[in-house]
Amino acid sequence: MSAVRALYAQASGSPIRAMLALAGQEGMISLAGGHPDPALLPAGWLRESLEGVTGKLQGRSLQYGATEGLAELREASAALLTQRGLAAKASELLITTGSQQAIDLLARVLIEPGESIAVESFNYPAALQAFRFAGARLIEVPTDAQGMDVDRLEAILQAERPRVLYVVPNFANPTGAVMPLARRLRLLELAAQYGVTLMEDDPYGELWFDQAPPPPLAQLNQQAGSPAQVAYMTSYSKVVAPALRLGVLLAPADILRAVVLAKQAADVHSGSLEQLTLAAMLGSNRLAPHLEVLRKAYAAKGAALADALHTHASELLEFDAPQGGMFVWARLRGDLPLLPAQDWVDFGLRHKVLVVPGAAFSISNAAQPWLRLSFANPTPAALQQGAERLGRGLLALASKPPTDIKSTHERTSA
Ligand SMILES: Cc1ncc(COP(=O)(O)O)c(C=O)c1O
Repeated sequence: MSAVRALYAQASGSPIRAMLALAGQEGMISLAGGHPDPALLPAGWLRESLEGVTGKLQGRSLQYGATEGLAELREASAALLTQRGLAAKASELLITTGSQQAIDLLARVLIEPGESIAVESFNYPAALQAFRFAGARLIEVPTDAQGMDVDRLEAILQAERPRVLYVVPNFANPTGAVMPLARRLRLLELAAQYGVTLMEDDPYGELWFDQAPPPPLAQLNQQAGSPAQVAYMTSYSKVVAPALRLGVLLAPADILRAVVLAKQAADVHSGSLEQLTLAAMLGSNRLAPHLEVLRKAYAAKGAALADALHTHASELLEFDAPQGGMFVWARLRGDLPLLPAQDWVDFGLRHKVLVVPGAAFSISNAAQPWLRLSFANPTPAALQQGAERLGRGLLALASKPPTDIKSTHERTSA
């Protein structure tokens, strides 16, 4: 079998997708998916903008467009990034089919097969998949509650010489971690010193609860006179609607040029009707109040899940209350068994609550003493009930007589 076919044959597919297939079961509560709350998707605002677009369907709206994206959306996106502090011109941006496409295209143009890419201990699985399909060797940089541990990065850069580093500094998936300013500045220094291109993935940065996160790496880099190469991507999925499949990439000119060519080969351009609709939405100045609504609602849901977990599972889980984003990253108490991913599917079916095991986010796919619990999609009542079921299920696991499954402590020390 060719190396490429072998890569696809081995790929396991996302365990989260497998979980989501069960989420529709009668009576199931899913804390598994990172999907926005359907009640918070802006149907009215989108419908009005879409009607404006469909009302004048002709010529350009039905025609092929530029690979870089339609001028209106590039302009509106550049204005939005600039308003947030990132100096961006429309000509420096590419509109992508979700930020997933930016990750995939950057992996294709930045990584030679066999080269290494540095990533955090726990990552968004579809990014890891894109890196693997590009033939990358994944190098783990230890991660803690403040994101990538940059103190340990230098030795890794010296030993492994990765040319690219992927990082989610704001409310990361799955850890919810926010990288503090000092770590961001040190990461930029190291990137410049070792010639590492940073892929900064920021789909959650606007979903902060009480306090905005520090500025993006790309912005700090601009302010410092651009010694490092930073490709910054963000997404409209979590702040408007994932169905539009639209994201933005801001990158140095040579990287952007290569990504545009790769996008030509991938899908020519992102859908024009979606781009025109989103440009009309952004032009109506309703994003800022919509973001206020999202922040308040997700903050309330994050607090509801954290409170319910304190009530029903505090003896079994350790976690920090979320400060933004969509996830609670919870560590399983040391004497709980360390289960393989499939057993968490069985757990979900038995206790009618779906959670994603840490293994889904790790490079090795080995069992981990962590669970990702998403508060974004369920109603507050379902979050309450989901936490109760999770607590009961974990208690049942804890009180099981020891079997051939080793405890978390034994496994992690191995
Ligand atoms: C960290 C991260 N990056 C990128 C994406 C992709 O988002 P989209 O392609 O919808 O913009 C996600 C989606 O959940 C994510 O969690």
